This record gives sequence, structure tokens and C-alpha cells, in this order.
Amino acid sequence: MQADAKAILESLSTAVLLTDHNLKIVYANTAAEQLFSMSISKLTGGLKLTDLIDKSQKSLTDSLQQALKPHAQGFNASNVLIIPEPHQTIRTDLYITHYSGKGRGLIAEFKALDYQQKINQEMALRSQHLAARDLIRSLAHEIKNPLGGIRGAAQLLEMSYGKYEHLTDYTQVIIEQSDRLKNLVDRLLGPQRPNPLTSCNIHYVIEKVLSLEDMATRGNSDIRFIKDYDPSLPDLLLDVDAMQQAILNIISNAVHALSEAKTAHPQIIIQTRAQLGSRIINGIKYPSATIVSITDNGPGIPENIRETLFYPMVTSRPQGHGLGLSIAQGIIERHNGLIECDSEKGRTVFRIILPLRKDKLAGKEV
Ligand SMILES: Nc1ncnc2c1ncn2[C@@H]1O[C@H](COP(=O)(O)OP(=O)(O)OP(=O)(O)O)[C@@H](O)[C@H]1O
Ligand SMILES: [Mg+2]
Repeated sequence: MQADAKAILESLSTAVLLTDHNLKIVYANTAAEQLFSMSISKLTGGLKLTDLIDKSQKSLTDSLQQALKPHAQGFNASNVLIIPEPHQTIRTDLYITHYSGKGRGLIAEFKALDYQQKINQEMALRSQHLAARDLIRSLAHEIKNPLGGIRGAAQLLEMSYGKYEHLTDYTQVIIEQSDRLKNLVDRLLGPQRPNPLTSCNIHYVIEKVLSLEDMATRGNSDIRFIKDYDPSLPDLLLDVDAMQQAILNIISNAVHALSEAKTAHPQIIIQTRAQLGSRIINGIKYPSATIVSITDNGPGIPENIRETLFYPMVTSRPQGHGLGLSIAQGIIERHNGLIECDSEKGRTVFRIILPLRKDKLAGKEV
């Protein structure tokens, strides 16, 4: 295939497969690799297009054979069920075009319906979060200014008591409560000045968080931490302190959930992996990504807060402020990443997906 044509196919976000005259797959672009969660070498290693399609769709298989005939027309099929691996199904729209030249075969384009829906949902959720966060930030600003005044006035009162010294208890309450509110407001506003990004290994950040967590529980926790790292992961450009905070917030939540539910044999698995193939995050396609998954075997996220989990002030804990996840999400977003969550009783997974910048892939320009 000509280099230009190949580059164009590679840059498409639609999955494209080319077959020969026997429907054997001879080319797959990166979007196909991602959609089918299969490496290009596996896709082009002897598989036929019909091997990917659910066997119940017999008429579709017949149409593919027909489309191979000389001068045949292409066709479109909606809602096609693809089964790349047993137990994995993907619903797609399929566009078939016949090509002939030196050889003859089919061009198959797949538009995943679930995947598209997921991207739309991600984007809608993101704009909701941004709107909620802007609202909270402006409210927090409004609260912060008069708060300073209230605290200052209480201090002045204290200084000018003279014979009313017994009133100190009241002014102390005002000062203490103003400080508490200020702390809350500062957390709501988030880090004021983000640190510059530096090249850092994600495992260094995770290890730092685990040692902090260990210090917090003074080694008294019976939670088993299982590390499953991919040591070959490249360094990422990170705001190290902020990333530490984001991961700490997620791990602390898991620790709280496990302790509060008194889960038997509590465990937290921390896994790092490289994303196979390119990844689209917030509408931008990245050549690769690092995935950090934090999985606990606790009670699961309470049903009533699942939809709004990442919103500020959403909490199920009496002592909680409902800020941990909202802050974590803000931090991951600043790294152009994404946090996903799957939760059921006995298994909650938070997945942090951090894209590799294009110019940072394997340390080379791409
Ligand atoms: N691993 C988990 N298992 C079960 N529930 C979880 C888990 N992680 C988060 N949650 C739920 O999500 C809620 C929101 O978490 P978030 O970290 O935003 O706030 P918080 O932990 O309640 O308070 P804060 O972090 O501000 O002290 C928690 O109250 C809890 O109900
Ligand atoms: Mg929390």
C-alpha cells in the first residue's frame, strides 16, 4: 500500500479492514486494533472477515461473498454484531466497498455504536462536570472573601474585651468555624497554581502514595495491597504532587470503603498497563496511553450516587466532604486524561487513563 494512503487510513478514527479475494484480512488500521482489542498482527495473521462476525448473521456472510464478485456493488449493514473474542460483543454499522486493481477484495469500515455512544456520553458528562465545577468555584470565591472579614472581626473583638473576657468562648467558636470553612473552600477551589509538568515514572508516584497510606494507618490495616505493574511503561509528563493527590484520593476511598464495610480479606489491586493501540480521549486521538487501575473487593459504590459520583459534595460518608473524586478528576483532566469507574458489590475499579503525548511516544517524534 502506498505510504500516503496508509497514513490516511491510520489517521481515521473509523476502524478499517481490507480483505483479499478470500475475505482474509490483509490490512487493519489502528482504530480497528483498538475497536477489536486485537493487535494488527493477530488481525492480519490468517483471520477472515467472516470470523469476526456473529455466526447468526448468515445473510450478511452471503452478502460479503456476493460483494467479492467482479463489478459487485458495496453495501451498508446496520447493527451488525461483531464477536472478536468469545464473550466480547460489539455492535457496529458496517460499510462494505468492493475494490479491484492488481488484486480484488473488500474494504470494510466499522462504526461502533456502543463506542460512539460512550464517547458522546463521556463528552456530555465532561461538560456537565465543567459547569458544576465552575459554579462551585465561583460560590467558593464568594464565600472566601467575607469569611476573612468575619474571622478578623472576631479577633478584634477578642483583643478589645477587657471586662467581657468570659465571651472568649464565643469568639473562639467563630474563629474555629471560619477556619474550618476556609479549609473547605480552599479544597473546593483546588490547587491555585499548578506545578510545572516533569517527566516521571508513574510507579514512583504510586509507591509514594502507598507509603503515605501506610503511614496514615501506621501499618495497622489488614488490607492487602497487590501490585501488578508493567515495568516497561515509559515516563509521563506529570504534575507529580497533583498526580499523587489524585491517586491518593482514589486509594483512600477504597481503604475507607473496605474498612467501613468490614470486608473479609480486604484487598486493593493496583495495576498499570499500556493501552494497546491508539486511544481517543475527549475527542482527541492519542497514539498510546497508560492505564492505572485501582480495584477493591469492597461493598461497591452506593447505587444512589453512581451517576453523580465525580460531582463535588457527593458523599455517602458522614465524615466525607465529597471532594476527593472531584479533585482527582480535575487533576487527571489537566493531564488530558480520563477516569472511568465500574462498580458492583465485591468489585470496584477506578481506571485512570493518561495519554502519552504524541511527541513523547517511545521518546521519539511521531
Ligand atoms: N472504592 C469505593 N468503594 C465504595 N464507594 C466509594 C469508593 N470510592 C468512592 N466511593 C463513594 O464515592 C463517594 C465520593 O467519594 P469522594 O472521594 O469524592 O468523597 P468522600 O470520600 O466522601 O469525601 P472526601 O474525599 O472529600 O473526604 C464516597 O463517599 C463513597 O460513597
Ligand atoms: Mg474521598
